[in-house]
Amino acid sequence: MNALVGLLFAHLGLALAGCEQSPPALGGDPESGRLLLRQFGCGSCHIIPGVAGAKGNTGPPLENVGRRVYLGGVLPNSPENMAQWIREPSRFAPETAMPDLPVSEAQARDMTAYLQELK
Ligand code: HEC
Repeated sequence: MNALVGLLFAHLGLALAGCEQSPPALGGDPESGRLLLRQFGCGSCHIIPGVAGAKGNTGPPLENVGRRVYLGGVLPNSPENMAQWIREPSRFAPETAMPDLPVSEAQARDMTAYLQELK
């Protein structure tokens, strides 16, 4: 009897864990993101693997940014937060050297889809 109850709880636990695991998917298009990163000149300040000419050293290299814990040292890294950071870094780090660029929400989603794959 106890074993059965234990089994039931184990199943419930697994089901709940399954729900929590799915990260907030933004549904951006990584290939379009790769081109946008180039068009917006992000590479003038960042090293970005796979993006032509992205060899800048003003900002941190983005080669492992998908694994980074904090963006700009202040904002917990998630797809949602990264897309917001890209549009308006000054909101989270008022003195950052990264400028607020006129990136649309959809463009930020696409760039995020590409950058989050860099691990
Ligand atoms: C003028 C230079 C400059 C440009 C242009 C620039 N960035 Fe940045 N970026 C920075 C700096 C500096 C930081 C570090 C921020 C801090 O620590 O305050 C940064 C941080 C970041 C981070 C967080 C990385 C981390 O590990 O903290 C991401 C993501 C990012 N930039 C993406 C972009 C994207 C996408 C673009 C183009 C739309 C872009 N950046 C354009 C300078 C720049």
